[in-house]
Amino acid sequence: MTAPLTIADLKSLARRRVPKMFFEYADSGSWTEGTYRANEDDFAAIKLRQRVMVDMTNRSLKSTMIGHDVAMPVALAPTGFTGMQHADGEMLAAKAAEEFGVPFTLSTMSICSIEDVASVTTKPFWFQLYVMRDRDFVQNLIDRAKRAGCSALVVTADLQILGQRHKDIHNGLSAPPKFTPKHVWQMATRPQWCLGMLGTKRRTFGNIVGHAKNVSDLSSLGSWTAEQFDPRLSWKDIEWIKQQWGGKLIIKGVLDEEDARAAADTGADAVIVSNHGGRQLDGAPSSISMLPKIVDAVGDRIEVHVDGGIRSGQDILKAVALGARGTYIGRPFLYGLGAMGKEGVDLALSILRKELDVTMALCGKRDIQTVDRSILAHNPY
Ligand code: FNR
Repeated sequence: MTAPLTIADLKSLARRRVPKMFFEYADSGSWTEGTYRANEDDFAAIKLRQRVMVDMTNRSLKSTMIGHDVAMPVALAPTGFTGMQHADGEMLAAKAAEEFGVPFTLSTMSICSIEDVASVTTKPFWFQLYVMRDRDFVQNLIDRAKRAGCSALVVTADLQILGQRHKDIHNGLSAPPKFTPKHVWQMATRPQWCLGMLGTKRRTFGNIVGHAKNVSDLSSLGSWTAEQFDPRLSWKDIEWIKQQWGGKLIIKGVLDEEDARAAADTGADAVIVSNHGGRQLDGAPSSISMLPKIVDAVGDRIEVHVDGGIRSGQDILKAVALGARGTYIGRPFLYGLGAMGKEGVDLALSILRKELDVTMALCGKRDIQTVDRSILAHNPY
């Protein structure tokens, strides 16, 4: 087989290399998965304007996100359980992002801890916060992120109650893991994945286990997590978080103009237009379809970023054209990780960069920072 050429190729390879229950943990949305599909499908309805006879030399994809230099306007989205796609997954992905020159965002629900990731990186990464009921735990987590030198805090607003994902239930995915013969078979047929896992020395869910009250192992983690997502979270809590953090703040999971205005009122530096990759409110519109409305509502006050369904450089260009200062990829880097470890994340980023660069050139643009809605031939949103 030739080397993977697209994110779809990496996905096929990951499907073969990662045990089914973990591959499907990434490749799933909530309920009917309608929003998950719409995130990808809605990009196709946007058409680009082909331009010719323009100088396409000396192109630049460099930009900034919340004032940080980025090699292209793409960051790695926070994803929980990343270390289940590949041993030490968060550390490998963070290294790949650092070498490439784009931000890596570590999830609260990561397998490797803040300290693990800090130990293998030399530049600051970003940290994603789930605001749990136990505010002492939250404060401690923020302090650890500060000590590790994290340069932005991403507060996720759209997961205070968990959307149900049928695939996880069918696959018996749980914490602590309950291994059935089916699971053992899935793992036995993925020897490379198993060998990697046997070789890792990381403490699983190191952001939480050993730090949250009475959570010393995976059994206690399961029940703790189930009761700790705080359904009362409100904009007022952001004020407290801002005080504790004192640095750049991004609010993730905004899909509505009114909520975007409220987020801007908190003094946050950016919002991420997102429906959690179609994993929360099934039936919600795709992120890309809501992006222009949110840019129009708050784009003059704060940066607007977007995630959900980005699978190519074309998609990144369309998002930038519709006003996104930055984009995030979740599954594309997870597929890379599952397929080939760090090399797969390197490859996912290189594929996206090449596609973005060529597409931008064929639209007659040389600098990503000059891309706007004028490069679109058709925009249904
Ligand atoms: C996520 N996402 C997510 N978001 C977050 O704020 N904290 C988290 O821990 C997770 N965990 C997580 C796990 C997995 C497996 C996926 C696929 C996603 C959502 C993520 O940050 C992002 O919003 C989406 O992944 C973007 O959509 P794409 O790029 O995956 O289509």
